[in-house]
Amino acid sequence: MIYFFFKAGFKKIQFNFEAIDIVHYIKYFIDELSWDFEEQDIKVQCKVDVDTNELVIVDREKLKRVLVNIIQNSLKHMKKGEKIIRFSVVERGHNIEIEINDYGDGIDPASLPYIFDRFYRADSARNTVTGGSGLGLAIAKQIISEHGGEIWAASEIGKGTSIFFTLRYAKK
Ligand SMILES: Nc1ncnc2c1ncn2[C@@H]1O[C@H](COP(=O)(O)OP(=O)(O)OP(=O)(O)O)[C@@H](O)[C@H]1O
Ligand SMILES: [Mg+2]
Repeated sequence: MIYFFFKAGFKKIQFNFEAIDIVHYIKYFIDELSWDFEEQDIKVQCKVDVDTNELVIVDREKLKRVLVNIIQNSLKHMKKGEKIIRFSVVERGHNIEIEINDYGDGIDPASLPYIFDRFYRADSARNTVTGGSGLGLAIAKQIISEHGGEIWAASEIGKGTSIFFTLRYAKK
């Protein structure tokens, strides 16, 4: 299905943009997955630091794909120790910035610039058993770009990874 996504040409894919309350959306998303998180013994935290209820322009379905792709990676790379995923939502001028942080095994600095490239997988031994085709973050990047936002990562080996992305406020 994912391959079809690219073969069909991403630009032809229809986006249905709506102005939504992003904080509500993210909380709902976490709620929906709470059973899965519990089952896998994963603690989920959500920190919201926005003082307005401004709406954000989003395609709900596509944004869900972004969140799922990011979280799937966190789940794959949090095999040892405490499993915590932290969401944080902050205001950054005309944008809202969302961070998804995990306590996973991290990404080495040499690989970090390439993780959003299609088919790229950090080729360290610790990743060889995790499967995957290296498309999850490339798709996330395409979707965020179509929203007029940016996506990037920060990571430290042994500490964990943060994926950040921005979305535009509807009115500001
Ligand atoms: N949270 C994370 N912790 C550690 N490494 C990560 C994390 N997220 C991404 N990576 C690294 O970035 C690479 C690219 O991620 P991406 O989601 O695009 O591909 P994938 O997970 O390998 O495959 P797919 O998502 O198509 O199943 C991964 O192979 C992995 O090496
Ligand atoms: Mg992935």
